[in-house]
Amino acid sequence: MTRGTYIALEGIEGAGKSTVAVALAGLIAGAGHDVMTVREPGGTPTGEKVRRILLDTDGSVAPWSEALLFSAARAQLAADVVEPALQAGTWVVSDRSVYSSLAYQGAGRGLGTDAVRAINEPGLGPTWPDLVALLELGVADGLSRQQVPDRIGGAGHGFLATVAQGFTDLAAAEPDRFVVIDATMPVADIAAEIWKALLDRHG
Ligand code: TYD
Repeated sequence: MTRGTYIALEGIEGAGKSTVAVALAGLIAGAGHDVMTVREPGGTPTGEKVRRILLDTDGSVAPWSEALLFSAARAQLAADVVEPALQAGTWVVSDRSVYSSLAYQGAGRGLGTDAVRAINEPGLGPTWPDLVALLELGVADGLSRQQVPDRIGGAGHGFLATVAQGFTDLAAAEPDRFVVIDATMPVADIAAEIWKALLDRHG
């Protein structure tokens, strides 16, 4: 059984990741692959409970507590859903991934991307995105397209600007893993660009 391909969609809030996930999954299915979409944080009963702790606006969550909770939810999703799917040959399109933690907690909260990577790796093992599509969008645009701000996404322009720069730096550091895409393009064009990158690199 050929292992499935794991694709992560990344970017600041308002970049349209969830709509692109549906369009991209359609292209992948059209090419004859089994495909599923997941979202982070969440995707498992345990992960959805952790998601509520993380995104509720009441109660404080210290930066390292936040990073560890995201990593806990992600380890559960990897064990229960993503890794079994990949092993069964199913392609996985994920709305966010470990790279969100590197950008939001590593860069945004200032914990350092290496330190945040180190707390995520043990729970993920081989379950690491093969391709990361970074949907790039200006922070002001992202904020105006954001629907309901949560505790993290509502942290303001300065925080999101640091996160956006974090994503850009991560893409520059791992050019073979990342494809950087203008998030203001029509959804169908964004999905087509990601599909082309997949064919070029994993076809
Ligand atoms: P979500 O409802 O998925 O928002 P969006 O539509 O913006 O993707 O909420 C996820 C929020 O959590 C978002 O503000 C990004 C943040 N986040 C992190 O800070 N670290 C992480 O590892 C992940 C997965 C998300």
